[in-house]
Amino acid sequence: MTSILAYCRPGYESDTANELATLYGEKELFGYPVSTSNSGFVHYNLFDENQLKHALTLRAVNETIFPRQLIGVFAKIDTLGKDDRVGQVLDALSEVEKPKAEFGVLEVDYPDTEEGKTLAKFCRKFTVPLRVALRQKGWLTAKENTQKAKLHVFFPSFESCVVGYSEKGYASPAHLGICRLKFPADSPSRSTLKLEDALVNMLSAKEQNKVLRSGGRAVDLGACPGGWTYQLVKRGMYVEAIDNGAVADSLMQTGLVEHHAADGFSYKPQFGRVDLLVCDMIEQPDRVAKLMGDWLVKHWATHAIFNLKLPMKRRYETVTEAMSLLVSRLDALNDAFTVKVRHLYHDRDEVTVTIVRTSDDEV
Ligand SMILES: C[S@@+](CC[C@H](N)C(=O)[O-])C[C@H]1O[C@@H](n2cnc3c(N)ncnc32)[C@H](O)[C@@H]1O
Repeated sequence: MTSILAYCRPGYESDTANELATLYGEKELFGYPVSTSNSGFVHYNLFDENQLKHALTLRAVNETIFPRQLIGVFAKIDTLGKDDRVGQVLDALSEVEKPKAEFGVLEVDYPDTEEGKTLAKFCRKFTVPLRVALRQKGWLTAKENTQKAKLHVFFPSFESCVVGYSEKGYASPAHLGICRLKFPADSPSRSTLKLEDALVNMLSAKEQNKVLRSGGRAVDLGACPGGWTYQLVKRGMYVEAIDNGAVADSLMQTGLVEHHAADGFSYKPQFGRVDLLVCDMIEQPDRVAKLMGDWLVKHWATHAIFNLKLPMKRRYETVTEAMSLLVSRLDALNDAFTVKVRHLYHDRDEVTVTIVRTSDDEV
């Protein structure tokens, strides 16, 4: 049985499973998701093995919500002995048809869980002998080639492993699909990493230049103590920071920040419009999505980046319902938008949304 293996944040298996079942089901890639709570991964088992490549290239991981990485599985070892693990992987591979002539890179993976932490050291050490052996058997290019598909050997535990591949352009380039960022010591809050993660991983270089223009204006709703404002100021933007709480002095001293102790739901931009609206208010997701839609429809903001805080249950449904209403409002406009929704590594119980206005119809 082949499957698409998705890595996710532990605790988000059922949301990832719902998303994959919807995504593949809509395209008649029939199968069923299998997951265990808090394992950090989900398999979507495909009924038709010939559909693996189609499923793997249906949607880039960066355009999904909950998956961190998407891998097409073609071999599984359910009972892995302690001795000669390299030999056992090679034996399993000798029985399968190669999905590609050869792979350019080997990645040995483990889940983002407490058990995964105990596997990390082993996986690092195991990579070298496995890579040598796979090169000898013609599975890997003689030299690392990042232009080719990547081979993944995933260890959910010491006793089992899964072999699959990811396609360049559809997969995350980061190991385990996790992009770790260094906390900037002068930022007033750790929340700064959420916005930085979104800017770096959800916007292309071209979009970053467009959205984060030095000298441009932004509004930050729910700004305190200022981690998101910090990211914008760092890029030379003027920021209207809206919150009843206080903004860090270090930011006020830059001369780029105006603080307004106001309600984010009734605030209007000082000069009628801004380049970018950001929002990290802890509020109902449908309320925030409606507010973001209002700003974009009225052209108060050209682009928007915001978080939708998630409930404990029905998180995939909550996100898709809030976003479908917002997207239908944007679709009714003459402008075009690129919309992405991601559960980023630095997010907790929230997803990040980026909306970039791509048409020239900017006022
Ligand atoms: C998660 S914190 C924001 C952290 C901030 N992004 C940072 O990086 O430092 C949420 C903030 O939203 C503010 N907030 C919640 N509801 C608000 C509202 N209706 N209007 C303005 N601010 C609000 C809270 O006062 C709180 O400071």
